[in-house]
Amino acid sequence: MRIHAVDHPLVAHKLSTLRDERTDSPTFRRLADELVTLLAYEATRDVRIDAVEIRTPVAATTGVRLSHPRPLVVPILRAGLGMLDGMVRLLPTAEVGFLGMIRDEETLQASTYANRMPDDLSGRQAYVLDPMLATGGTLVAAIDELIRRGADDVTAICLLAAPEGVRLMERELEGAPVTVVTASIDERLNEHGYIVPGLGDAGDRMYGTA
Ligand code: URA
Repeated sequence: MRIHAVDHPLVAHKLSTLRDERTDSPTFRRLADELVTLLAYEATRDVRIDAVEIRTPVAATTGVRLSHPRPLVVPILRAGLGMLDGMVRLLPTAEVGFLGMIRDEETLQASTYANRMPDDLSGRQAYVLDPMLATGGTLVAAIDELIRRGADDVTAICLLAAPEGVRLMERELEGAPVTVVTASIDERLNEHGYIVPGLGDAGDRMYGTA
């Protein structure tokens, strides 16, 4: 597993406003959307392409186009849904699957309550969207499921990551074809499983339920 914390002033600027407790839900959603598009640009650096012959109005030349089968984008419900538009803005022809996962606030264990993905992902690239890599349990379970169905290259896009979650993923997904792209690896998790300094509950802040 590889982890890539994107070091870019625009990413840091948008993330700082997301973290600010005074940022309201409409602004939070817009900034999260913009931040995902910036992270998606980095995350798709190795998206598969094929050479293609094209004609410009001036001459024949060789270009590229996205390979088939197209990549699969999988937002993890609920908060990952707020990252979908920002991702498919860059990959409009991607197929979209859905995973509903919830973590027990006491045991912090993840369980699946909805699963709408193609059964056969052989040879597919997949991008998983989950804003907060906290304990890592949810992402490990989601990525295990994608690999079990045949995906051979999985990139998780997370707004924030905690070192504890990164360590769990490195341990559980050692040697797996997995990359995590994030705007920041924060300090730690607190006793409630929240990322510190973090940004609070991403779903609540996105959907105004705080
Ligand atoms: N999920 C969140 O929404 N926030 C955290 O800090 C950790 C998990």
